[in-house]
Amino acid sequence: MWQLLSPMILFLLVSAGPRAERPKAMVVLEPEWTRILTWDRVTLRCQGPYGPGDPPTQWWHNGSLISHQASSYDITAARLEDSGEYKCQTNLSKASDPVQLEVHATWLLLQAPRWVFQEGETIRLRCHSWQNKKVWKVQYFQDGRGKRFFHSNSEFHIPKATRKHSGSYFCRGIIGTKNESSEAVDITVQGPPIPSTSTLLPHWYQIAFFLVLVLLYAVVTGLFLVVQRDLRRSMETGKDRKVTWSRDPQDKLEQ
Ligand SMILES: *[C@@H]1O[C@H](CO)[C@@H](O)[C@H](O)[C@H]1NC(C)=O
Ligand SMILES: *[C@@H]1O[C@H](CO)[C@@H](O)[C@H](O)[C@H]1NC(C)=O
Ligand SMILES: *[C@@H]1O[C@H](CO)[C@@H](O)[C@H](O)[C@H]1NC(C)=O
Repeated sequence: MWQLLSPMILFLLVSAGPRAERPKAMVVLEPEWTRILTWDRVTLRCQGPYGPGDPPTQWWHNGSLISHQASSYDITAARLEDSGEYKCQTNLSKASDPVQLEVHATWLLLQAPRWVFQEGETIRLRCHSWQNKKVWKVQYFQDGRGKRFFHSNSEFHIPKATRKHSGSYFCRGIIGTKNESSEAVDITVQGPPIPSTSTLLPHWYQIAFFLVLVLLYAVVTGLFLVVQRDLRRSMETGKDRKVTWSRDPQDKLEQ
């Protein structure tokens, strides 16, 4: 059995080998904000396996290949044109999923690591001002209601988020003598994924496979019983024959 099984496992491994896909590269932002203000600095890093090949890294902005080939792409003073979709690929990876960068030209901008959270996670909000100018009396709002006030600018953290924290958020504060507000952004808090019934119920092919197994078992058992019975019978007749032959083996020849 094992002699038969090990070549089979080997075959499965070998046949799975070429199908194993190259890993996907990933664009990582540092700092992590996907919405930034003009003049902000952001570094895009391409994470993926590197080989000796050329080019080491390829970058796409809005779908067009750009000339940059280093593993990180530095935007030292963001301009509105730096907005858009970024993708990268290292020599040994597949192209990454796109990352959207939004460059805004306003006084205040609400920032968050992402806009969709799972229940129980901490929502981190930041009221970012243009060129990090001092902001006073910062207030965060959810669906028009004031949620939190800080005398000087601070991040607003919502620990253990629940679905009731989904909504439209913005911040406002005083810069110099001006009362400024950010644009509102939607935040979604999702519940735990509900397992779909299709994954709980056996698939038709699992049932079919089970039935085939039962059938095979029945056939094999039947065959075994038949063979056993025949074997026993032939052994018995063989014994008889043996007895006859041993009595006088010459009889048959003489006939
Ligand atoms: C990786 O490098 C090899 C050798 O220079 C080159 O032929 C190939 O096109 C490169 N692949 C990518 C995805 O850049
Ligand atoms: C890329 O696309 C974004 C959004 O569509 C646009 O704002 C930006 O100016 C584009 N930049 C370039 C260089 O094409
Ligand atoms: C900023 O303006 C809003 C109305 O637009 C007002 O309700 C709020 O009190 C002002 N904030 C400060 C700190 O003056």
